[in-house]
Amino acid sequence: KRRIGVMTSGGDAPGMNGAVRAVVRMSIAKGCEAYGVYEGYEGLVQGGDLIKKMSWDDVRGWLSEGGTLIGTARCPAFRERDGRRKAAKNMIMKGIDALVIIGGDGSLTGADKFRSEWPELLSELVKQGEIRKEQAESHKHLNIVGMVGSIDNDMSLTDATIGCYSSLGRICQMVDYIDATASSHQRAFVIEVMGRHCGWLALMSGVSTGADFVFLPERPPPVEWEKQMCSIVSKHRKLGKRKTIVIIAEGAHDRQLKPIKASRVKDLLSNDLGLDTRITTLGHVQRGGNACAYDRILSTLQGVEAVKAVLESEPSTPSPMISIIENKIVRRPLVEAVAATNKVAELIENKKFEEAITMRDAEFAE
Ligand code: F6P
Repeated sequence: KRRIGVMTSGGDAPGMNGAVRAVVRMSIAKGCEAYGVYEGYEGLVQGGDLIKKMSWDDVRGWLSEGGTLIGTARCPAFRERDGRRKAAKNMIMKGIDALVIIGGDGSLTGADKFRSEWPELLSELVKQGEIRKEQAESHKHLNIVGMVGSIDNDMSLTDATIGCYSSLGRICQMVDYIDATASSHQRAFVIEVMGRHCGWLALMSGVSTGADFVFLPERPPPVEWEKQMCSIVSKHRKLGKRKTIVIIAEGAHDRQLKPIKASRVKDLLSNDLGLDTRITTLGHVQRGGNACAYDRILSTLQGVEAVKAVLESEPSTPSPMISIIENKIVRRPLVEAVAATNKVAELIENKKFEEAITMRDAEFAE
């Protein structure tokens, strides 16, 4: 029986458990065996009990659960060749030569590198007498399939990453709570949201809650942003608004890439506009918690597709990433998706904001 490993890596995201559940059950439905790799790449490097065979019942009730029940970890050992050699040996010992990884761009790039090194790692292991020649022969190729799990929605070549809509929902709920108290006191709130270098959560939560002003990394505000923000906020107040909500992406910066801090925005609202202002950093409540319906559906459909991709993959085809584009579950070359993601980051670092935005828009258009 073909043995398929499944692992979560990088920051946890709601829907990761649904993805593991789908991979385990689809593998079994297709006559394969499923293995859960616990604690991310650490599990591959350490092996033993961290790579466990999973049954249909093991993933019962996982669809709605937040976080990742098979764990995740940052693993410096896997970045070293020796760590990857140990990982290859552990996989061979368990008879696994296909791995579905649910993680962000860093985790998926690591996996693809592992795939390209696989034949060398195996011949090294044979030479050193750590595995038998026949074992290497029967697992000549490593199949890697990537699924993107991240609340940030920062991966190119997919419209949504697993977890982003659960996080967005949570942010909106939190901003609604804040709205009630802000309106009561006619206060202003500066709310910092996650997203690392990506402004998707900030932008979408701003639209969803009718925020007065939003700061995004991809579209830094004009040079005179202090004046602009104050004039917009005071206009809204004159129109009768009893509260002010400013949302800042944690990666927001000005056109010189200098971070825009919540404290700076608060000082402007308090000192220039005389508003009683508070700062709320939402933090990890945005990441934990159960998965919304969209993430349950996305993780299930993508998990099914991931197993199909494993079973159809050829040694010559590039590792696929399972995406959703215009509501269709599709496969895209993992390396291309990571390269496009890095390109956007590079454009922002080089202050080419318009090009970065165009590239993001082009992805949506695709
Ligand atoms: O990538 C997910 C994310 O939650 C980002 O939005 C945030 O910048 C980062 O992870 C926080 O990481 P940590 O939990 O390690 O502090």
